[in-house]
Amino acid sequence: REERERRIKEEQEKYQLILEEEEMINFVSTAITMKGTLSENTVRYCVFIIFLYVFHTECYNNLVSSYFLQESEPQLSQAEKQKQSIQEVRRSLPIFPYREDLLAAIREHQILVIEGETGSGKTTQIPQYLLEDGYTEGGMKIGCTQPRRVAAMSVAARVAQEMSVKLGNEVGYSIRFEDCTSERTILKYMTDGMLLREFLTEPDLASYSVIIIDEAHERTLHTDILFGLIKDIARFRPDLKVLVASATLDTERFSCFFDDAPVFRIPGRRFPVDIYYTKAPEADYLEACVVSVLQIHVTQPAGDVLVFLTGQEEIEACCELLQERCRRLGSKISELLVLPIYANLPSDMQAKIFNPTPPGARKVVVATNIAETSLTIDGIIYVIDPGFCKQKSYNARTGMESLIVTPCSRASANQRAGRAGRVAAGKCFRLYTAWAFKHEMEETTVPEIQRTNLGNVVLLLKSLGINDLIHFDFMDPPPHETLVLALEQLYALGALNHLGELTKLKWNFCYLLITDYPLSDVVTVIYKCSEEILTIAAMLSVNNSIFYRPKDKVVHADNARMNFVVPGGDHIVLLNVYTQRLAFKVNGYSTQWCFENFIQFRSMKRARDVRDQLEGLMDRIEVELCSCNGESVPIRKAVTAGYFYNTARLSKGGYKTVKHQQTVYVHPNSSLFEEQPRWMIYHELVFTTKEFMRQVIEIESGWLLEVAPHYYKNKELEDSSSKKMPRKQGKAREELG
Ligand code: CDP
Ligand code: MG
Repeated sequence: REERERRIKEEQEKYQLILEEEEMINFVSTAITMKGTLSENTVRYCVFIIFLYVFHTECYNNLVSSYFLQESEPQLSQAEKQKQSIQEVRRSLPIFPYREDLLAAIREHQILVIEGETGSGKTTQIPQYLLEDGYTEGGMKIGCTQPRRVAAMSVAARVAQEMSVKLGNEVGYSIRFEDCTSERTILKYMTDGMLLREFLTEPDLASYSVIIIDEAHERTLHTDILFGLIKDIARFRPDLKVLVASATLDTERFSCFFDDAPVFRIPGRRFPVDIYYTKAPEADYLEACVVSVLQIHVTQPAGDVLVFLTGQEEIEACCELLQERCRRLGSKISELLVLPIYANLPSDMQAKIFNPTPPGARKVVVATNIAETSLTIDGIIYVIDPGFCKQKSYNARTGMESLIVTPCSRASANQRAGRAGRVAAGKCFRLYTAWAFKHEMEETTVPEIQRTNLGNVVLLLKSLGINDLIHFDFMDPPPHETLVLALEQLYALGALNHLGELTKLKWNFCYLLITDYPLSDVVTVIYKCSEEILTIAAMLSVNNSIFYRPKDKVVHADNARMNFVVPGGDHIVLLNVYTQRLAFKVNGYSTQWCFENFIQFRSMKRARDVRDQLEGLMDRIEVELCSCNGESVPIRKAVTAGYFYNTARLSKGGYKTVKHQQTVYVHPNSSLFEEQPRWMIYHELVFTTKEFMRQVIEIESGWLLEVAPHYYKNKELEDSSSKKMPRKQGKAREELG
């Protein structure tokens, strides 16, 4: 447009020159004398222009402008242009030149391992190539698994856009509690866990012609199980094509596992990345990130920044700090767009990270290791890597699972650095020392299967009729004691009988779908509170993001939160929030209500969706719902029935788990932080600075004998009064005094 405007101006100046003074007369007379050689129309046009110039200057200007605009501009509508540029982008991806060779290799081999640098187009292009090559004829589907929900959603959205179809029609995605597919869907992106569940309804995956196990290098628990199952069905379904796609890591191992399947390599284009280390370890890596971003912003040439942090809380804190400092610096610096990305971020916010950066501004994306390989953001030149990630870890001796912030592996660190060199030469700032990189980091990340509780996986495999778990074809088998412990726990829960067989399949199916929440039959049948438990399960599933606590309104937010506190514990508080909101929704004020009460509206909406789905599920397996009218004891007993192995007892030094005497702490955000009841059950353990119990509920020790007599002995539960510690009463008196 600038170029065009410049041209118009030039032309106008030229005309003015010609038309001014005598030359105007010359021009007219030449036009008239040349009448014989020029077409009549041209002469008429010249005279007309002169006429306008003399009498209507503004009109003349417009005419000239529109003439030139017309000349160079509109042959294409906006939509067509966008489409054209998308096709150009598709053709520019590193995978494009290999399209034919890749399709030929797929035709030739049943199982193919595909290796390619992140961003080369594996995830978005391969399914489209297969579709164009006829793999969906006869109503067959192409499935592509992703370890992360966000990746499945955003990639499906991108592909739908590339194919100019509505998301959910031909291209769709399926993640837990959210199915965005229809009968027309032929390209289906899904989390690896969802494909696992499809085995329950379609054990040979008969409706699929191709399964792509993407991001195989991530080695999530579900992906590892898929490897074993798919290798097995590929034997009796020779028509099924299996593609294992991975970043450039360890592809030989995949090939080896799949009986020496060939590896197809897509050469990447990677620009050099300069790596900088700190001289000394950073005490506060969050602060170090913020400072580094601002330093890059003021000292480095244009280019976007990608920061790797470990989770939502850190990311939000970092974004707030950055925004605040930018506000303070005001117009002294150019615009800095700060964008977070993590699993629980609402999808419209997620989409923002892909928007191109406006000229003159700089984009900073603050991400979890989602951005390591699953998502590619164009335009990143600088990467800031504090060297940490949040990892599940499992102690098979104590049976405790916790999320711990740990140093990431060298392989991860190298992937992160690689993100800086996709579009041009880049820089990676590692907020740790070169020594730490060499000596303190592991070479690669341990596969999840070796550091997690296997309860749900055992249930799933058993439901698929796989009873001999010891001989299941694992790529890396889990530790023996973890398997044994999972069997023991399931036995204790009543899901398996003494022969290790499934007991009540109906209920176990339910277990599976809800996975994190064992809704045993005891829960609903004996305690008659399935309505309430469904709500609690739904609220727990949105993962600690119900209460909103902005930094500048901490006091207000905490007061609002206190208003929801009811006796019994966090589960009951969550139930209370849900019920109160429902009461307001009737009056149609729910957004406003959430805002006033510092409740995250989106989380509530999600909880609502999850609950609807759970209800549908209960309906499908023909279980009638019943309610205890919010009464606390049946609910707490029901939670005890499902979670009895997560019991902690207050003793002299604080809380200890009952079975293994491990010291644990009540999370300061809990409604029971001050209360200190003698016995409690926790929903999960999270290790941050200490081993914190998150979402706790107060129980009586007698209930443990009632719900799990096979697990607890009387002796273990001695001193079983549920009275509070005297210390607490003393404190209350002080306050009164
Ligand atoms: O799977 P792989 O890492 O090989 O690449 P991809 O995810 O297929 O990405 C190919 C291209 O699509 C990259 O240039 C991405 O930036 C782009 N893309 C996008 O613009 N929006 C998305 N939601 C996903 C990918
Ligand atoms: Mg990919």
